[in-house]
Amino acid sequence: MSRIAYVAGQYLPHRQAAVHIEDRGFQFADGVYEVISVVDGHLVDEALHLARLHRSLAELRIAAPMGDTALKVVLREVVRRNDVDTGIVYLQVTRGAASREHAFPKSAKPTLVVTSRRTKPPDPRLGEEGIAVITIPDIRWQRCDIKSVALIPNVLGKQQAREAGAYEAWQVDRDGQITEGTSTNAWIVTVDGTVVTRAADTAILNGVTRLAIFDIIRREGYRLVERPFTVEEAKAAREAFLTSTTADLLPVVRIDGSPVGEGRPGPLGQKLRAAYFAHAAAVA
Ligand code: PDD
Repeated sequence: MSRIAYVAGQYLPHRQAAVHIEDRGFQFADGVYEVISVVDGHLVDEALHLARLHRSLAELRIAAPMGDTALKVVLREVVRRNDVDTGIVYLQVTRGAASREHAFPKSAKPTLVVTSRRTKPPDPRLGEEGIAVITIPDIRWQRCDIKSVALIPNVLGKQQAREAGAYEAWQVDRDGQITEGTSTNAWIVTVDGTVVTRAADTAILNGVTRLAIFDIIRREGYRLVERPFTVEEAKAAREAFLTSTTADLLPVVRIDGSPVGEGRPGPLGQKLRAAYFAHAAAVA
C-alpha cells in the first residue's frame, strides 16, 4: 500500500507529494510541527497538541493554514488513508513559498503537510531495563519553547547519543543545568521521592507527555517540583526518566556511564509509565 500524504490541499501518494523549492520551510526552517500519537486509530491528547501548534504559530506570526475543525478532519483522513492503527501523525506548517528573502513575504500562503505511519511500540526491553543517556552542551537558540522545525542541534545531539551507544542526549545549559533531551523531556526523582522536571521556560519544549504525566502525578498525590537540576544531581538521583510522544516514558538508568540509583528502572517511574499507557489508551 503506498503511503498517502496531505500536501497543500491534496491527498497524494508520497512519490507525488512535494512542496515548492522556495518553500520557506525548506530554505529557512521557517515552520513548526507536531507529532501526535495514534492509539487504536485515535489521536492521543489532540487538543493539547493543537493548542501548542497555535502557540508556536502565533509566536512566529505564521497564519493557521485552516481552522481546527478542518485540520482535525485532515489529520483523521491521513490516518485513515494510511490504515494506521498504532503509530503517529506528523503535521508541519511553514510560512509558505516565496522568493528567497529573510523578512516575511508580503503574501505567502502557509503550507500544511500531514503524514502518518504505523510504528512499532518501543522495544519493551527499553522500559524493563532502562536506557542510557549522555550529556552534551545545549547549543540551541533561546526559544526552544517554540516547536520549530529548525532541529539541527537536536539532530547532531541525537546522532552523538547513537554513536555513544545511548538512547538520548540530555542538553546542559551554561549554568550546568539540564534543559531537556534532543526530542524528549528530562525528569529525576530525588532521594526523598520528589519528582523534578524543569519548568516550561523558553529553554525547553512544554511536552504534551510532560503535561499528561503532571496530571497523573497530581491525581496520584506524588510530590512534584518544577525546577532545573544539574548533571551531578541527576547522577545522584534515586530515579530518572524521559518522556515524549514517541518514547512514552522510559527509565534512564545510566547518565554518562554512571548508574542512576541501582542502575535499574525505579518503582515510581514504572508506576508513572503504566499510568501513562492507561491514559493514552483511555483518551484515545
Ligand atoms: N519531540 N523536547 C523536545 C526538544 C522535543 O522535540 C519533544 C518532542 C519533546 C516532548 O514533547 P511531547 O511530549 O509533546 O512529544 C520535548 C517529537 C516527538 C519529535 O520531534 O519527534
